Amino acid sequence: MEQDRWTRWLLEGRFGGDAEYAKEYLARLREVRDAVLDHRLKLVDGATLLDVGAGDGLIGFGALERMSQGGRVVFSDISRPLLERCRSVAARMGLGDRCDFVEAPAEDLGPIAGETVDVVTTRSVLIYVGDKAAAFREFHRVLKPDGRISLFEPINRYGLDAWRYDVAPVLDLAQRLRDFYRRLQPVDSDPMLDFDEHDLVAHCEAAGFIDIHLALHIFVRSATPQPWDRAISIPGNPNIPSPRDAMARVFSAEEAARYEAHVRPQVEAGRGVVREAVAYLAAMKPERPSAPPVEEASR
Ligand SMILES: C[S@@+](CC[C@H](N)C(=O)[O-])C[C@H]1O[C@@H](n2cnc3c(N)ncnc32)[C@H](O)[C@@H]1O
Repeated sequence: MEQDRWTRWLLEGRFGGDAEYAKEYLARLREVRDAVLDHRLKLVDGATLLDVGAGDGLIGFGALERMSQGGRVVFSDISRPLLERCRSVAARMGLGDRCDFVEAPAEDLGPIAGETVDVVTTRSVLIYVGDKAAAFREFHRVLKPDGRISLFEPINRYGLDAWRYDVAPVLDLAQRLRDFYRRLQPVDSDPMLDFDEHDLVAHCEAAGFIDIHLALHIFVRSATPQPWDRAISIPGNPNIPSPRDAMARVFSAEEAARYEAHVRPQVEAGRGVVREAVAYLAAMKPERPSAPPVEEASR
């Protein structure tokens, strides 16, 4: 299969080449998938669901499984190789005639006609989208009146300034590593960091949705023990180098050894605190456009 950045990330990069870890990771993702598909959705047999940024089909195939008596899924993504992968999985499962595959960005779902889908889902896609307001307008456009969206996004701004491990004795090095990543993904302009849960709600409402519900989950938990090699092989996301590559660029050999001597035992023992936030948002496209504000209506 042809590979691109997204295929490499979804099929390999995020697992760091560790099959056991991949299994645990995918089990956690299935929980997220179920939460997205359960969040105030009417996923009835015969419905058409559009999964935006479908990736390797986590949500789309989950939806087909639930609509066992019929129903369609439109897989859309900017990655042609991932769409081709979903197409061949669907064919292998005998589901090809219930699927469509559309190459389009979330901000411009042009090939999908207005008011043609019952449900729009998306997971961890808006974090890569610069114009999130446009994406919400597109979700609204393609939905039939009374249709619903359900999405999940990490809120990466949360806990950004905290340190996961005790880096006090190597603070100079930890700060340089952090500065390196911040130059690649500036907090105020990078699509992964420049929004929070309030922005999601505001974009959703501005696009014309109603019955908006956002659940913010914040986790402050002990770090899980991890093999050092795996921990430094996995980039935080597909747009940045792994810690191993970043350290090679930022540190001298002596500095890398000093950093590793201090941080590695903590990583391997799980002696750290992880702070994460994620948002689940559900909303409805009203049957009729919401009434204009009173001043406008009386003009
Ligand atoms: C982290 S993956 C999530 C994949 C899938 N939604 C899942 O839950 O496993 C992000 C996906 O978003 C897609 N993507 C990135 N930018 C996009 C954009 N502007 N519009 C649509 N999809 C995009 C990528 O190709 C990739 O498949």
